[in-house]
Amino acid sequence: AVELSLRPTSLNQYIGQQKVKENLSIFIKAARMREEPLDHVLLYGPPGLGKTTLAAIIANEMGVQFRSTSGPAIERAGDLAAILSSLEPGDVLFIDEVHRLPRSVEEVLYPAMEDFFLDIVIGTGPSARSVRIDLPPFTLVGATTRAGLLSAPLRDRFGVLSRLEYYEPKDLCSIVERTAEIFETSISPDAAAEVARRSRGTPRIANRLLKRIRDISQVKGEEEISLGTTEQALKMLQVDDVGLDHVDHKLLKGIIDGFKGGPVGLDTIAATIGEESQTIEDVYEPFLLQIGFIQRTPRGRIVTPKAYQHFGIIGNDA
Ligand code: ADE
Repeated sequence: AVELSLRPTSLNQYIGQQKVKENLSIFIKAARMREEPLDHVLLYGPPGLGKTTLAAIIANEMGVQFRSTSGPAIERAGDLAAILSSLEPGDVLFIDEVHRLPRSVEEVLYPAMEDFFLDIVIGTGPSARSVRIDLPPFTLVGATTRAGLLSAPLRDRFGVLSRLEYYEPKDLCSIVERTAEIFETSISPDAAAEVARRSRGTPRIANRLLKRIRDISQVKGEEEISLGTTEQALKMLQVDDVGLDHVDHKLLKGIIDGFKGGPVGLDTIAATIGEESQTIEDVYEPFLLQIGFIQRTPRGRIVTPKAYQHFGIIGNDA
């Protein structure tokens, strides 16, 4: 129950992402005034920034049901038809990893999004016929790590495109303090700031680290989570001074040691360190790009002098 209540349920409780919140709150208000469903919304950005949470908040603020599924879970047009025809007017259907919808399902989704009907082919061969099923008007909220992963026709059918950004340390700090409060745990301000600073701009990471730090603090018998315990815990968890974990290190060191700092292709580095290319691209690379530790060039990824300095190595051109 505590896990569930970690997620804020209204825009007012949702910390950070100021621009996205401002926009959504206007679109929600206008749709409510017109007594219409909200236009379809695409939320995109790195994992762990709160896309699912925001989708549930949209439903809550619209006063409708929240239904949730994912791209890979919808294998056939019939699966989608079953979900869509069970919606009530105005409901929010959340599709996580919407870029992974099978193409055949995507095509059925277009008229559903545009004009709220389904064209389903029944039977095969000469007896096959197409039936039209009218749907209740609904709001599709799609989530993806990168808008560019979507096919153009699907992307074009979302009226609202919102990009979630990495959180600023002060917002992450507020999230850590809020979570600590829900856990009925006290944390010193400097400890909360340290967790925030070392969570790669990502609430999911901040909350996960906080749980482990709380474990250690509790075993030590502390009344309040201290900075010292936080530092000790982060060391145990192999989180470095700027928040990089052992996979980030493996990635950077892999390029530095194996490829003289690059450029090296994504698939080559993925094979070398034994991680999926897609995971590197969606989960690890965006933050390393953001903090300027790697750069993408036409010939592949390169590690920057800034990253070399972080490891205390003098790079090629540092
Ligand atoms: N927990 C995780 N993300 C959050 C956010 N953006 N605001 C409030 N609490 C959160």
